[in-house]
Amino acid sequence: MRQPLVAGNWKMHGSRKFTHELVGGILAGRGPDRGGAEVVVCPPFTCLDEARRLLADQDEVVRGAQDVDWHDDGAYTGEVSASRLADAGCRYVIVGHSERRALYGETDAVVARKAAAARERGLTPILCVGETLAEREANRTEAVVGAQIDAAIEFLGADAFADMVIAYEPVWAIGTGRTATGEQAQAVHAFIRARIAGHDPAAASAVRIVYGGSVKPDNAQALFVNPDIDGGLIGGASLKAADFLAICNSAG
Ligand code: PGA
Repeated sequence: MRQPLVAGNWKMHGSRKFTHELVGGILAGRGPDRGGAEVVVCPPFTCLDEARRLLADQDEVVRGAQDVDWHDDGAYTGEVSASRLADAGCRYVIVGHSERRALYGETDAVVARKAAAARERGLTPILCVGETLAEREANRTEAVVGAQIDAAIEFLGADAFADMVIAYEPVWAIGTGRTATGEQAQAVHAFIRARIAGHDPAAASAVRIVYGGSVKPDNAQALFVNPDIDGGLIGGASLKAADFLAICNSAG
């Protein structure tokens, strides 16, 4: 059985004070009715230490980062490596988010290297894939997502997926308020799992595939009820403790 996972991608929002309030609110709101989902918060790098301070000595909520460089050490001004994220107490790191692909030119090859670097340092990559609206409308969703998955399989090996997380995030659903239906998302999740199963059936049944793109408390259940949707990667709704908790509870 795959443990559901819900990760909050704060993007470039928040301060140390905001972190204190939001993480405090999440911890305080984890009531007895909480489900069995693994809960991850991914604040900006500069807030990781404050999150670590608040989350020390507990395993209820773990930390992740939003990006990583694939070099480990050296003259890479401005970059943050996987060993530094591990040192900061991160367990997860998002790689290949569509904003990084679109705004910072990250290619499938760079994303695969980042995932490999994370794994080498004991972090679990949350590898993001997804098609644009134009690609969906041209019936190219499977071609695009398939190529993104293939590039990662080629570099990492399919067996690596057994302990990874994939986030299917249709670009047209991110931050737009327009969510994929449960049916649309399930179809792509099943496609991704089958793609991996073509190489390694055990890894395919173990890999957690989460959905992202305008997940809110009122649509989370309809998404998470599907057999191949193992939780969510949450942007906007992860910035409010009550909304994020409601989504976490729907996943478990
Ligand atoms: P959203 O973002 O929930 O605000 O659409 C999701 C994401 O970009 O990970």
